[in-house]
Amino acid sequence: MRRRRRFALLLSIAIVVITALVVAIVLLLTPTPQPTPSASPTASETPTPTPTPTPTPTFDATAFSLTDPTSPWVIVNKLNPLQPVDYAPELRVVNVPYVYEPRMRPEAADAIERMFAAFTAETGLEMQSQSAYRSYQTQVGVYQGNDTLTARPGYSEHQTGWVMDISAKPLNCALQICFGQTPQGQWLAAHAYEYGFVIRYPDGKTDVTGYQYEPWHVRYVGVELATEMHDTGVSTLEEFFGWPPAPNYP
Ligand code: DAL
Ligand code: ZN
Repeated sequence: MRRRRRFALLLSIAIVVITALVVAIVLLLTPTPQPTPSASPTASETPTPTPTPTPTPTFDATAFSLTDPTSPWVIVNKLNPLQPVDYAPELRVVNVPYVYEPRMRPEAADAIERMFAAFTAETGLEMQSQSAYRSYQTQVGVYQGNDTLTARPGYSEHQTGWVMDISAKPLNCALQICFGQTPQGQWLAAHAYEYGFVIRYPDGKTDVTGYQYEPWHVRYVGVELATEMHDTGVSTLEEFFGWPPAPNYP
């Protein structure tokens, strides 16, 4: 009887030991759960700047009429008279020094007053108006038969109100080619476009414009067109817009 109890006791101890061993082995073999590596922060992507589309500055050569005398782009030459021939624009007096009191279309008057002020501010010198708007009847008196110097009545840009003949003050080479060599003439050749004006009858373009070089005759076309002509180096309205040269009357 004692032997059976002892056997039972040993058996119990063996079961406990074996169970403990099994548990220990199971624990050893069970992989310790590894901490899930937190997603390593990816370098935040440098935002690629969306390229701002640079608008290609395209000049719209159809923005204004080339035939309407109220248009700053109207082309008046020996093949293209004013229409109607006695056209008279809206005008205002231009507040600049003058030989004959000048009147121009208001938009051109504003621009030319700014240009005169800039010239005097930059150089300390003065310019003055020789002649700006001229009516059909005034041109009748001005025209003396020389077709390369003066337009016939009804064919003068002066009748549009977009034009001024400028001279130095005091007068120096007024209405002569040597005006181009005066400080006033040099400054106009370099800067008139910034105010929307072109030298309408450039040197060497008589075959296109029909007139001799007139460094004093500035024509308002607006800053956009004047700048485009300056930048492209196309100096006459006829060439810029692809119109036929107008050296002579029909
Ligand atoms: N001298 C310019 C051409 C005119 O008479 O209009
Ligand atoms: Zn003129």
